[in-house]
Amino acid sequence: MHFTLNGKHVEIDDALSDTPLLYILRNDFQLNGPKYGCGIGECGACTIHIDGLAARSCSIPAASAAGKSIVTLEGLAEGTQLHPVQQGFIDEQAAQCGYCANGMIMTLVALFTRQPDASEQQIKSELAFNLCRCGTHLEILRAAEKARE
Ligand code: FES
Repeated sequence: MHFTLNGKHVEIDDALSDTPLLYILRNDFQLNGPKYGCGIGECGACTIHIDGLAARSCSIPAASAAGKSIVTLEGLAEGTQLHPVQQGFIDEQAAQCGYCANGMIMTLVALFTRQPDASEQQIKSELAFNLCRCGTHLEILRAAEKARE
């Protein structure tokens, strides 16, 4: 099975078709941006992009990636230039434990890609199903606002 991963053409064994895509990304490609949180598509920690859309990699089989473009947190930066959402998280210190940051960032990048002028309400709605146990929601929203500017 072939797909594009952070801009590079990659191949995995067809026998892995039913394996959750998250496991392939973390274990076979050592991409530790996407996190294992709940494992049932509820928390958002494992969010990646499939053809530009946010998707929860813990609950979709690797076969879903076939022929698609997969982007993980590691693929957002251009060289040493972080994506504005990543930079916003740093500037606003939007991570406490940091476990949710991957999902928050990937979700926001997907939103701003399709809607660069998303309103505060749209940002909140988009992040409503990304869970953060530390409670850095205000910093996360400030990071999102900064990235949108
Ligand atoms: Fe995938 Fe929670 S680990 S949604």
